[in-house]
Amino acid sequence: MSELVAKPADTKANLEKLVRDRWSPRIYDTSHTLSAAELESLGESFRWAPSSSNSQPWKLVLATRGSALHKEISEQGLGGFNGSWAPNASALAIVLGEEKNSKGDDRNPVDTAYDLGLASMKLIIQAESMGLKAHVMGGIEHEAIKKILNAKGHFVMVAISIGLQGGLEGQDEAIVAREKAPRERKEDAYLIDQKF
Ligand SMILES: Cc1cc2nc3c(=O)[nH]c(=O)nc-3n(C[C@H](O)[C@H](O)[C@H](O)COP(=O)(O)O)c2cc1C
Repeated sequence: MSELVAKPADTKANLEKLVRDRWSPRIYDTSHTLSAAELESLGESFRWAPSSSNSQPWKLVLATRGSALHKEISEQGLGGFNGSWAPNASALAIVLGEEKNSKGDDRNPVDTAYDLGLASMKLIIQAESMGLKAHVMGGIEHEAIKKILNAKGHFVMVAISIGLQGGLEGQDEAIVAREKAPRERKEDAYLIDQKF
């Protein structure tokens, strides 16, 4: 079987397995598809995220490989390198945020970004729990995707590829090198009982 890369967090700390094992691969099994029930689980994991004042300023569009929408997003919405690997995933999830609040005023962009980030991470961990892998992409054609989706009043935050991880066999060298590269983190990300 073609080698599957695993890149668990390099820490001695006791981490929940889903948290430890999550990482962002770029190789997906192109024969894998998501069932309607799986798509619903992914959507619901996003929908039940916390948000500021429970404002839920989000929308998630799941475009499955083989659909007309997926083709359009893949061809026009994913720039450069992302466009070479992300369409192989079983789905492209587009995360959008509302521009205005319920009173019609501009939403606080920090609150909105935080809410979308929390909902996205729930989606990613749900995917991981289903034996899948997800990869966030900010390097996308935000305006092109907004236009494709007819998403008036919303901005496109990120796209997230979701699918079954694929093996290294037959993959481009550039992709294989990135898959095998170690995951790195700053040592000083958190402080315990200590000031800056
Ligand atoms: C907001 C955001 C935007 C990102 N944009 C891209 C992208 O355009 N292309 C890409 O290959 N990875 C992208 N990534 C993935 C990061 O590079 C990746 O999460 C980071 O290197 C840590 O690796 P890990 O997720 O495997 O732990 C993005 C991640 C986030 C959170």
